[in-house]
Amino acid sequence: MTHPAAADLIARSNRLGSDPKNTNYAGGNTSAKGTETDPVTGQPVELVWVKGSGGDLGTLTEQGLAVLRLDRMRALVDVYPGLEREDEMVAAFDYCLHGKGGAAPSIDTAMHGLVDAPHVDHLHPDSGIAVATAADGQELTSTIFGDKVVWVPWRRPGFQLGLDIAEIKEKNPQAIGCILGGHGITAWGETSDEAERASLWIIDTAAAYIAEHSRPEPFGPPLAGYAPLPQAERRAKAAALGATIRGIASQDRPMVGHFTDTGEVLDFLASSEHPRLGALGTSCPDHFLRTKVKPLVLDLPSDAPVEDCVARLKELAVAYREDYQAYYDRHATPESPAIRGADPLIVLVPGVGMFSFGKDKQTARVAGEFYVNAINVMRGAEGLSTYAPIDEAEKFRIEYWALEEAKLQRMPKPKPLATRVALVTGAAGGIGKATAKKLAAEGACVVIADLSLEKAQAAAAEIGGSDVAVGVAADVSDEDAVQAMVDAAVLAFGGVDLVVNNAGLSLSKSLMDTTAADWDLQHNVMAKGSFLVSKATAKVMVGQEMGGDIVYISSKNSVFAGPNNIAYSATKADQAHQVRLLAAELGAHGIKVNGVNPDGVVQGSGIFASGWGANRAAVYGVEEKDLGTFYAQRTILKREVLPENIANAVFVLCGPDMTHTTGLHVPVDAGVAAAFLR
Ligand SMILES: NC(=O)c1ccc[n+]([C@@H]2O[C@H](COP(=O)([O-])OP(=O)(O)OC[C@H]3O[C@@H](n4cnc5c(N)ncnc54)[C@H](O)[C@@H]3O)[C@@H](O)[C@H]2O)c1
Ligand SMILES: [Zn+2]
Repeated sequence: MTHPAAADLIARSNRLGSDPKNTNYAGGNTSAKGTETDPVTGQPVELVWVKGSGGDLGTLTEQGLAVLRLDRMRALVDVYPGLEREDEMVAAFDYCLHGKGGAAPSIDTAMHGLVDAPHVDHLHPDSGIAVATAADGQELTSTIFGDKVVWVPWRRPGFQLGLDIAEIKEKNPQAIGCILGGHGITAWGETSDEAERASLWIIDTAAAYIAEHSRPEPFGPPLAGYAPLPQAERRAKAAALGATIRGIASQDRPMVGHFTDTGEVLDFLASSEHPRLGALGTSCPDHFLRTKVKPLVLDLPSDAPVEDCVARLKELAVAYREDYQAYYDRHATPESPAIRGADPLIVLVPGVGMFSFGKDKQTARVAGEFYVNAINVMRGAEGLSTYAPIDEAEKFRIEYWALEEAKLQRMPKPKPLATRVALVTGAAGGIGKATAKKLAAEGACVVIADLSLEKAQAAAAEIGGSDVAVGVAADVSDEDAVQAMVDAAVLAFGGVDLVVNNAGLSLSKSLMDTTAADWDLQHNVMAKGSFLVSKATAKVMVGQEMGGDIVYISSKNSVFAGPNNIAYSATKADQAHQVRLLAAELGAHGIKVNGVNPDGVVQGSGIFASGWGANRAAVYGVEEKDLGTFYAQRTILKREVLPENIANAVFVLCGPDMTHTTGLHVPVDAGVAAAFLR
């Protein structure tokens, strides 16, 4: 049974965490204290429930709480060895745990356990951090809140910060909370409602004060030539720059990208102070752990031609890496963890928007959200005063903190296709959908393209949320539609690395029955369609300089001369030769091109359901429902071929074990001697 204090805590946390004005995603933590009967002694025991490491307040559940004994937490004060060794206290929290299960105690546990209040909230609201990062934050705190809120100078989160805040609470009985310099807020209350009211009062009072007292144009006057481009133009420019930018962000390790062109970002970039503020970097530890200390900011106006932007971005990337290496070298000690890569995680393009990067789409998206938080913080701080983030040495101490490093080391091993962006054509059903599903299950982000937007989106929704799969409409035989599809992939995930030319249809007709229109349709969708898709996606892959994979779903019929099949089999043979031609041509860019030759995939196949099956059944003299079994009996292995079998072959060709194979066709047909390759 959930203790009532924990139940109140979860409800309050969910309310606070679901409004972005109160805290950033997964930022902040909350706690409640209460008494329970100790199952060991039968006596009452005082406990603290506190949000554990990781996890988000908005979706917090009981499993996300750490439960500790207060008597033992308080006893830690007597063994605390001092600031130099405060990190050791995190390990000591494990010896205060009550019962098993729940989350690991976070670094902020001390603050919650030591502050003598039944309910405590620690949050990262933009309005509160704006005050916390203002050069005169201390004076502003007393002007805005009087003596109800106390200023705490910057200190890295940990045991000492907990002791500091506990002392402030004790010495200021009138106070409901404090502003943590450079960082965020902490508030408390006798009841859960009182703590929530205190948090919201601090957040809303700070926001109202900023709204009333901010000078106009906190980011300075508009910068001529840096106004946002109209939406269609900025999306087109973002798509055109996406490959270069993803390549820049992926020099040390491949990254997934997220693009946003929200008003906050565009306004910031359109104002004269953005270069100075961008260079100052973010302040709240949560922010810069996700965004790196500073972004890479393109210093060209909104209408600068794409080629100029590409060239300048590449120069800036070299400078960014040198600057980051120098920052690491300035502050690293022999005990510091190794440098984690010097590429930017946030790239800002004036007039266009922001690209953010991470090990997966969710991380990339959240990094972008955090930079928007940082922009809001800078706007508030500059509106009232001067933005003054914590200094660089402190940022380094957080970024390369041994405890942070340990958290990273505990992360589960990434899946084989993690960070890869796959685009599968004709993926609303059949082999395409099975392939998209498999690639997503192995860690890829997938773009599902098909004729019908509705069906493409339905297939994407079946595979996962928009951080995993998105559906787009595209007729692969239409060059403009193909470009729009590739642009959509770049805007959704930053680029493309793994392309599956699967779209197709089949008209089973004899030579005499095949019309010129039949011929054109078959060739337009398969030969021309896969040519167009390969061309548009190869351009992105070459621009990214990250290699890539193109896989053609051709067919047994590309080599086998079956009956009544002139147009279909001819265009499949065309596709099969595209594999060899492109393998030869694109290898210089690290792009592998391979093919799969399926046969007799009846289940789930739209091709079979829409007439081809009936026709094949008639040709072979069997009932349509028995076609799968009929094909199975025709094979050497006597096995029916399923869409999943094709999907598995695609994964193997693109996966970590087939790095040295290009120009290959893999038959997935349960063994058809007439279609053996030689
Ligand atoms: N099913 C088999 O036995 C078999 C055997 C060999 C090869 N193949 C090949 O596998 C691929 C997938 O076939 P399937 O059996 O899953 O069939 P399917 O009909 O279930 O899937 C094909 C998909 O392609 C889409 N499509 C058709 N024209 C398109 C266009 N112009 N632009 C974008 N999308 C378009 C369709 O809407 C459909 O969703 C095809 O290329 C097919 O030739 C299938
Ligand atoms: Zn914090």
